[in-house]
Amino acid sequence: MSDQPKLVPGLADIPVAESAISFIDGKRARLEYRGLAVETLARESTFEETSWLLLEGALPSQRELANFDSELRNHRRIKFKIVDLLKCLPEAGHPMGALQAGVAALGMFYPACDVSDARSNWDSVVRLIAKIPTIVAAFHRLRRGDEALPPRDDLGHAANFFWMLTEQEPSPAVARVLDACLILHAEHSMNASTFSARVTGSTLADPYTVVSSAIGTLTGPLHGGANEEVLDMLDEMGDTPPARWLENAIATKRKIMGFGHRVYKVKDPRATVLQELAEHVFAESGKPPKYELAVDLERAAAAQLGPKGIYPNVDFYSGIVYQSLGIPRDLFTPIFAISRVAGWLSHWLEQLENNRIYRPEQVYVGNHDMPYTPLEKRP
Ligand code: CMC
Repeated sequence: MSDQPKLVPGLADIPVAESAISFIDGKRARLEYRGLAVETLARESTFEETSWLLLEGALPSQRELANFDSELRNHRRIKFKIVDLLKCLPEAGHPMGALQAGVAALGMFYPACDVSDARSNWDSVVRLIAKIPTIVAAFHRLRRGDEALPPRDDLGHAANFFWMLTEQEPSPAVARVLDACLILHAEHSMNASTFSARVTGSTLADPYTVVSSAIGTLTGPLHGGANEEVLDMLDEMGDTPPARWLENAIATKRKIMGFGHRVYKVKDPRATVLQELAEHVFAESGKPPKYELAVDLERAAAAQLGPKGIYPNVDFYSGIVYQSLGIPRDLFTPIFAISRVAGWLSHWLEQLENNRIYRPEQVYVGNHDMPYTPLEKRP
């Protein structure tokens, strides 16, 4: 019909909010959190400090950071009933499902329905950032028949997660690269899961519901699930030379996982800095063969996909880094969530400052004025 609005698939290039949290220049490979370059943060900051920056809008003072860090450490534990809930879930189920269920359940233990209460909102922010790694690690250990490990108060956020997962203290280089991965994934403007968080937040739902809906959105292979699929793809390549494999993939119109981005038309700056940090770990442990293969594939793709503005995104290398740390493949997306919760919650708080419920339009393409045929007369 002529008076219908024009459809923009995927809302591409349509602004859905004003935001002061992060900025991307897809042509200049620039990503800023509150005006600070993400590369600088990955090299200089910690996930705790970066989370504060995203949530509060500026770098914390020493005292603010110490208080925030100690609040996070104090709230890492999860109730035994949450552990019991995780025990009841199928071992073969995807950990993203367990995380989504665990976060939704947290909201029943810590009711936070009055989102006009700033104190309660902050408490929820701290609980969510602090407890999500504990839920991920607990589900992983329980599904293998091991006891969930309690968090270690003497370790930072990334190192404690590694401990709860593996019962090993990470080396400084491993803790550093894991922390940098959390920084690099913490925020990325109006991506699908962040939009999901803002849409749910716009209904004035509680923050646990906001985060569990964002976790659901992150699950898909076109978003957070891509880093798992990168490794499946590299496995599948086997000994086929990357250039030949790629030619065939392009000819059969396959998507190359870990490549391409709605916003970046050059190499994702997060992929560049992650690769640099990963090299530090590989200097200790040796370069994994998958990494060499990925670098070869990137080189081959520069000629074949580069002219279309398709380059590696952050997920092209993050899975290889996690695998080199001994982290199982199906935990890659939960680790993305451990990090991105900081961005989701920053957007949730920003949404509440000037809220209006999201209610977009549709272009109706169905029927009109249909007759009702009684059941017995239908073919
Ligand atoms: N491999 C091959 N061709 C591609 C790829 C790719 N990875 N990405 C885009 N293209 C082509 C696509 O086939 C299309 O070509 P044509 O115009 O000839 O039909 C064109 O580029 C535009 O693609 P699109 O899918 O319409 O672009 P989009 O902006 O809607 O999608 C994307 C962005 C990330 C979903 C897409 O690039 C993709 O599916 N990449 C693989 C999955 C992936 O790595 N996702 C992680 C994204 S980064 C982490 C995050 O933020 O979640």
